[in-house]
Amino acid sequence: MSSHHPLTQRPAWLALRDHHAAIRDLHLRDLFKTDPARGERMTATAVGVFLDYSKNRVTDETLKLLLGLADECGLRDRIDAMFRGDKINVTEKRAVLHTALRAPRGTKILVDGQDVVSDVHGVLDKMAAFADRVRSGEWTGHTGKRIRTVINIGIGGSDLGPVMAYEALKHYSDRGLTLRFVSNVDGTDITEATRDLDPAETLFIISSKTFTTLETMTNARTARDWSLAGLKDEKAVAKHFVAVSTNAEEVKKFGIDTANMFGFWDWVGGRYSMDSAIGLSTMIAVGPAGFRDMLAGFHAMDEHFKTAPFAQNLPVLLGLLTVWYTNFFGSETVAVLPYDQYLKRFPAYLQQLTMESNGKRVTLDGTEVDYQTSPIYWGEPGTNGQHSFYQLIHQGTKLIPCDFIAFAKSLNPSGRHHDLLMANVFAQAEALAFGKTAAEVKADGNPDWLVPHRTFPGNRPSNTLLLDHLTPAALGSLIALYEHSVFTQGTIWGVNSFDQWGVELGKVLAQRIVPELEAAGDPPLAHDASTNALIRRYRKMKG
Ligand code: F6P
Repeated sequence: MSSHHPLTQRPAWLALRDHHAAIRDLHLRDLFKTDPARGERMTATAVGVFLDYSKNRVTDETLKLLLGLADECGLRDRIDAMFRGDKINVTEKRAVLHTALRAPRGTKILVDGQDVVSDVHGVLDKMAAFADRVRSGEWTGHTGKRIRTVINIGIGGSDLGPVMAYEALKHYSDRGLTLRFVSNVDGTDITEATRDLDPAETLFIISSKTFTTLETMTNARTARDWSLAGLKDEKAVAKHFVAVSTNAEEVKKFGIDTANMFGFWDWVGGRYSMDSAIGLSTMIAVGPAGFRDMLAGFHAMDEHFKTAPFAQNLPVLLGLLTVWYTNFFGSETVAVLPYDQYLKRFPAYLQQLTMESNGKRVTLDGTEVDYQTSPIYWGEPGTNGQHSFYQLIHQGTKLIPCDFIAFAKSLNPSGRHHDLLMANVFAQAEALAFGKTAAEVKADGNPDWLVPHRTFPGNRPSNTLLLDHLTPAALGSLIALYEHSVFTQGTIWGVNSFDQWGVELGKVLAQRIVPELEAAGDPPLAHDASTNALIRRYRKMKG
């Protein structure tokens, strides 16, 4: 039941504010002492993902109030509206239907009277046929050679998901094929990606929802020049370039046959698109069956999000806990710490998903918010982070809620490695929560002057996500978990999680500056004094 008060005037928000004042100094040590069962009770499982949220600074009352806030903010209605295909991306007047990308064949979801699920499966089938041809060697390059390297050119949502998934699912990938990714407009990226390759064995996937993005189109043109310099025949483009886009006209203009184009739709946001045709590189790497397993994992989490009571709903719980720390404890960041080497790009992927979605300063009706929105997401795989920035999380002055992600089984069992890895996950969460008191440090025989330095205050919250092992399905479920946590947060904050106007101004200004860098003579500059001076200095330095 949604109330019409502004967020900070809602009864649940006010109750949470008072409740926070009452419990903010409670220590996790005491919460566990008075309620030893919380380690088993404050957990939830869905689709093979086990969440232990007991090491959070919450009581049963906190959870009750947070769940009340979700109700007051109309989370149930918003979920239904999203899944139904309502145009909830109001500033772009679009439906938000990444969930349709993984809906099973035969499901019906209508957008403007058109069933989008049959469209989705049409594209998936076309991708599968193409991926099979590349993997089997049936699809050859212009000279008849087999494709050995596939380079995905894209940026943002047309890059981060494919990069992350290739790394995450490497165990399942065809090792006879190498995938590379080019995103940066810095010429070093494409140069390094192609320098040791034979154009006759290299296939480019140009991935761009709009097919107008400066970085991607610049890299795509350079790739075409590189390819044609080696193959010396315009006709080679048809065998070495395919496109993933919503913009058939621009694809044609670029010279790619639209028969070799894989489409998607404006109701798929860039950062929610790795399971659309944007995942073509992923499908080539792991095969159509692996890709479909990943989609099934996404879908299972979608169903859980849509149907599970909020008190047991993983994305809802994660999202509400983030709101709790962001808005009541004043936390500014969330650390995501995967204890799996294959997930090394997962934090980078989550940065776009979370911050491009909820990095917003006005609500859906344009009112400026008077509370914090998205925290900064960051992280590195464990155990590497432990030897780098964990010091600050343990003993620094900032409260940084952490998500630990771990798997019970390694895909590369090797001696004691996995037990050692897992011992570290459990130890870090334990140390953060419970710390080490001054009395304990002293009892270890430390001199008084050293005691404060070696004391761990503890009371630093974390979630632990434990899964069986990293499969395509598990990856899909994990990503959907964060997508829907972001949705939950965005719903509480009342923002549009699906537009990204904040990236526009810089793009426009860059387009204005480009001719000023390239013009001959001394072009007139009408920027501020700093920008003018930097441009002049650069022009002089570049010679
Ligand atoms: O600039 C931001 C952005 O629009 C992202 O949202 C998007 O994922 C990325 O650029 C790439 O856009 P496109 O797929 O259209 O090239």
